[in-house]
Amino acid sequence: MIPSHIGFIMDGNGRWAAERRLPRHEGYSYGLDALKRVLGRCAARGVDVVSVYAFSTENIRRPDEEINAIFDVVRKFNLSYDGSMRVLYMGDIDALPEEVARSVEYIESKTASNKSMTLNIALNYGARDDIVAAAKHAYDHGAFTLEAFESGLASAALPPLDLIVRTGGEKRLSNFMLYEAAYSELVFLDKYWPDMTESDVDVIIDEFEKRNRKFGR
Ligand code: IPE
Ligand code: IPE
Ligand code: MG
Repeated sequence: MIPSHIGFIMDGNGRWAAERRLPRHEGYSYGLDALKRVLGRCAARGVDVVSVYAFSTENIRRPDEEINAIFDVVRKFNLSYDGSMRVLYMGDIDALPEEVARSVEYIESKTASNKSMTLNIALNYGARDDIVAAAKHAYDHGAFTLEAFESGLASAALPPLDLIVRTGGEKRLSNFMLYEAAYSELVFLDKYWPDMTESDVDVIIDEFEKRNRKFGR
């Protein structure tokens, strides 16, 4: 079966640039090109939702130059996207510079009624914050059930996260969709994110299809 929802931890952009003697922050615009290739292939293969980790709550500790480069890429994408995907964001968008937050609002409303694949971008996102918000949501509703909790997660309206792929060689989740990862299949690739191609998506989907998902049974 094709995974309905894939999460990509798009890691390795800085190292990709450094290997080419480019400043680290130049890796992000090449990373955007890779994202477009990956999304195109995911859509062609029938994936319903792709969640991507673009900026974690911890990434705010990076040098300003790097943070600004990431936000520039995000804005450029938001203001120029003209395709058929529905684009959503999750994370603390209000805490971002105003022009970034406005570009997020712009693309979300522009693509709201699009019906092809959904792209869910984790920006200024941390799963621990999301889990605390879901707990608060359950508390506010006076219902301490799994349903009340899960309806407060940023991913509440999305299908289960079938597969998480991390590029860049590290084998950790770095605060990405921790609750949703409970039964996700995990794939770790050594290649850096800007090197991702359409055929890598096919390799990932083939790998997923070989997995025996048991859900405890
Ligand atoms: C991941 O790429 C993307 C963001 C953190 C925005 P990195 O910038 O972490 O690249 P590496 O891991 O240092 O190579
Ligand atoms: C995770 O990568 C965040 C994103 C890909 C946006 P990091 O590079 O921030 O993760 P660590 O620091 O290696 O765990
Ligand atoms: Mg990294």
